[in-house]
Amino acid sequence: MSASYLRIEGLTKRFGASAAVQDVNLDVRQGEMVVLLGPSGCGKTTTLRLIAGFVEATAGRILLEGQDYADLPPYRREMGMVFQSYALFPHMTVAQNVTFGLRMRRLPKPEIEQRLAATLEMVELSSMAERYPRQLSGGQQQRVALARALAIRPKVLLLDEPLSNLDANLRQQVAREIRQLQRAAGLTALMVTHDQDEAMMMADRLVVMDKGAVQQVGTQEELYERPANPFVARFIGHSNLVAGELSGGTRLSLPDGTVIGLAGHYAATGPVTLAIRPERARLCAPGDAAARVTVVVEDATYVGAHVEYLLALPDGTRLILHDPTDGGGTRRHAPGDRAGLTWDPASERLFDAAGVPLTARAAIPA
Ligand SMILES: Nc1ncnc2c1ncn2[C@@H]1O[C@H](COP(=O)(O)OP(=O)(O)OP(=O)(O)O)[C@@H](O)[C@H]1O
Ligand SMILES: [Mg+2]
Repeated sequence: MSASYLRIEGLTKRFGASAAVQDVNLDVRQGEMVVLLGPSGCGKTTTLRLIAGFVEATAGRILLEGQDYADLPPYRREMGMVFQSYALFPHMTVAQNVTFGLRMRRLPKPEIEQRLAATLEMVELSSMAERYPRQLSGGQQQRVALARALAIRPKVLLLDEPLSNLDANLRQQVAREIRQLQRAAGLTALMVTHDQDEAMMMADRLVVMDKGAVQQVGTQEELYERPANPFVARFIGHSNLVAGELSGGTRLSLPDGTVIGLAGHYAATGPVTLAIRPERARLCAPGDAAARVTVVVEDATYVGAHVEYLLALPDGTRLILHDPTDGGGTRRHAPGDRAGLTWDPASERLFDAAGVPLTARAAIPA
């Protein structure tokens, strides 16, 4: 496995004054599945289209195996793309759809036939070669789109929300199928989604984007345990974010005068943002020595694996807390209760005004 198979350097795309993609840098290894994740409009599709060559970059380079792709037209880039709306040709059969790219490339007929058979088998659609898209279910159409991209034996497979038109159950199934197929074939793939669960399930590594820019690149664990900024902390797995002023190393003062006793001791002072995950905090008695702040329980909902509490800080800021159920389904606190909120030093994340994580010098256990 070479270090970098597909390399993206300073990739930028401006439409008029606004940048849809802003200085994106990324290295993808051969055989790796990298998932681009981010809110609607953050530049995911544009990034894929730049790589595929359907859109011309304003700046930056795309290198595949060290070769600069800037001047190569899409059909010479050896990249297979599955579009956000799967865009099958409605007037062509499954077989004609799948072989489209091969016929465009003027491959010999026996080669086309052989690849068609192999690809349809891969996506388990061999019996449907003569059907038209309208005669297929959404999941089957999705697999035809995938087969069409695979048939050209792409060096890189680009998947733009390939599961977006499927219902929840089918999504999971097709997601697993795509992942198995990608692994078995050793395909290098870049997939876009805005569904966090899907991204977590399918990726070797993830790229979190916001407003055209990469916020963090990393494994699931890296993004979850060591988010690079508050955006990633909130976007991946949800975090409660509380903004305030840090003083005395351990005091977080909110604008209304509420003071939160932090779990770490920090060298910095000034404006910071605290991030706490719902499952990494717990409730205690309001006067308990462990309490870092006092909250009011606004709602408690039993959802099976845990009780989800909606809590309010004195200034009205809402926090979410997940308290694991032990089988009894007990709601230990009722709406209207006052409670102490606490967490361990290892569960506390603090970011400075620029969004950069701060490291605690010492832990102050609860
Ligand atoms: N051809 C275009 N001309 C002008 N602006 C464009 C064009 N294509 C995309 N944009 C803008 O660029 C930004 C990024 O769009 P893009 O389609 O890449 O987002 P996305 O992350 O794929 O979003 P979604 O999750 O909704 O598909 C958006 O603000 C969009 O309006
Ligand atoms: Mg898109």
